[in-house]
Amino acid sequence: MTANSSPKDAIADRLAEARERTLELVEPLDEEQLNRVYSPLLSPLAWDLGHIANLEELWLVRTVGGREPLHGALGRVYDAIENPRRIRGELPILRDAELRAYLADIRERTLEVLDEVDVDGDAEDPLLRGGFVYEMLLAHEHQHNETMLQLLQMVEGYEPVRVDAAPGAEPAPRGPEMVAVEGGEHPVGAPAEGFAYDNERGRHPVELAPFEIDRTPVANGAFALFLADTGAEPPMYWERDGEGGWLSAAMGRREPVDPGRPVVHVSWDEADAFARWAGKRLPTEQEWEAACAGAGAERANLDQLAFGASPAGAFADGAARCGAVQMLGDVWEWTASDFLAYPGFEPFPYPEYSQVFFGGAYKVLRGGAWATRRDTIRPSFRNWDLPQRRQIFAGLRCARDA
Ligand code: AVJ
Ligand code: FE
Repeated sequence: MTANSSPKDAIADRLAEARERTLELVEPLDEEQLNRVYSPLLSPLAWDLGHIANLEELWLVRTVGGREPLHGALGRVYDAIENPRRIRGELPILRDAELRAYLADIRERTLEVLDEVDVDGDAEDPLLRGGFVYEMLLAHEHQHNETMLQLLQMVEGYEPVRVDAAPGAEPAPRGPEMVAVEGGEHPVGAPAEGFAYDNERGRHPVELAPFEIDRTPVANGAFALFLADTGAEPPMYWERDGEGGWLSAAMGRREPVDPGRPVVHVSWDEADAFARWAGKRLPTEQEWEAACAGAGAERANLDQLAFGASPAGAFADGAARCGAVQMLGDVWEWTASDFLAYPGFEPFPYPEYSQVFFGGAYKVLRGGAWATRRDTIRPSFRNWDLPQRRQIFAGLRCARDA
């Protein structure tokens, strides 16, 4: 058999590719750095690695394959709900050679089980049908890569193994500040076909009043004007340059903030304040999704290799139907919306992915960032975080009533 000759081979190849990326991210680091607590908001990288393997064991080995756990009750230390991020540095997690062996052993078992199961589109078990559970675990590893990249911003002198500056970003063309989206009925949520999380289902019509939305994400230059005018809190990693300007100090590199790039590492509170300062507001997530219609993930700064956002206005050839650019990629965009269940929501396959986070505490982000893997993002994808958080790769674009 040649590579990719069957759906199972394709799954195995993608699992291998995801793992290569995970290991590439931590390759430049030593054991001490892998286990260090850099921030109470983020796990030590060694916890992420063990957790990636442990969730793979839970779903792809134990649930799908009916096997016994490899290390007894190890799952408890990698349970994200039971162990909030600020205590993960104190847990008896796997380290060093033991951790590497666990990742490899679980992967070996995963491939063994994959060989036995039926992942066809008409498979009886909804977990396996169309390879759902494998898509879920791929997305999980991809998403933890992004969390790991959040932490890597705090590692002084981190040198990525591989950098590919914003593949194919066009020079930013000029255009109107805002573009119009028609009112009326717009579909929201994931289509029935293809992988999606439970929180994106089901697709349903929403009635929207006509509105305008910024053509590009808000850039650093505009955000600096807002800071100068209001004294608001600057984005994470920004420092004064001593001459009235700003430096960004992520990864310990002090570089002038580029006024033409999308602002990143802002909280929802500051994004909302910026929008009101500009005489606008944040879009609701339904408005955001309507504005995103027609945008493609192929022409976008995604996939974790650029290590920064492209100039605001880039990827004009990947524009949405309304004319907005960079709806996908570059920076996550805060929306006005709380993370709530869609009509008819049903938790699948477990309530701890989405359902336990529904309510008024979390705000929805849309669109993905340069640090998001390309095949994890789609117009219906919903991310969420607390409104005061800035460690995620979050910026914004504004809207207003037409
Ligand atoms: C969707 C990014 C909010 O990090 O809590 C990872 C993704 N869920 N493991 C998170 C996730 C389980 C989730 N976010
Ligand atoms: Fe997780």
